[in-house]
Amino acid sequence: MQMIFSAAIRRLLWNNIIAAAIIAMAVADHHRPPYGRTYETPAYHQPQAYTPAYHQPPAYGSYEQPHAYKAKPYKEIPECSKNSTGPYCLSDAEYPLYEIQDAIKTHKYGFLELYADVADLNTKNSVDRLNELVQETYLCPSETIYARPLRSINSDGKWRIIVNNVKVDYDDFTQTVRLETCQTAGKKCPLVPDCYDTKCVQKHVHHRFLVFDAYDHYFPFAIESFRLPASCACFTEAFDIEH
Ligand SMILES: *[C@@H]1O[C@H](CO)[C@@H](O)[C@H](O)[C@H]1NC(C)=O
Repeated sequence: MQMIFSAAIRRLLWNNIIAAAIIAMAVADHHRPPYGRTYETPAYHQPQAYTPAYHQPPAYGSYEQPHAYKAKPYKEIPECSKNSTGPYCLSDAEYPLYEIQDAIKTHKYGFLELYADVADLNTKNSVDRLNELVQETYLCPSETIYARPLRSINSDGKWRIIVNNVKVDYDDFTQTVRLETCQTAGKKCPLVPDCYDTKCVQKHVHHRFLVFDAYDHYFPFAIESFRLPASCACFTEAFDIEH
């Protein structure tokens, strides 16, 4: 009798677990954010027919005259890098602020178009990174800052001047990025028991910035990609071997 009774309870429990799992899946599905997987096809990719004529990319050559900058010869490795521990400068005594302001005034239309483009991307990146935060940041100590770098090393390994904290008339042009740096990269993950072979690993993202290139006298702005510290993950050796 007792045997039959406990088997019935077990079956009842099992049914409850399955029901709970089904509910959990339904809830998870329901709570999936509406923006999931939509990054690849941004809303502004409208068919060409709907694009009003005035949204066409400006033909810079037709009305923007080449502008003679008093471009100083820039060093391959800027002075400010000596004051910085990362691949970027957050302060820079040699930042060419007046040249950038001058260039923005001269090329305002083309500049604003590029600026709108990186501002849009920045918003998407910050949403994207929330997932990483939840999954990865707890096991290794890290430092997170929201920064406006003035210079950084691009994906080709070249130092670039980033348009940041530049006021022109009533506009303030800024580009903020979230930087998360491992405090103990390469060391054991401190919160994981010693019996596991683990390691804190610095992870990076490619972030796009609007940069100023004083040497391009024709149109001295461009969007370039920068590899920046984005999160601090804990890996086990087994995981390392698999990948
Ligand atoms: C580096 O730091 C020193 C001391 O704070 C400062 O005087 C110098 O201007 C800085 N260099 C640059 C290029 O920002």
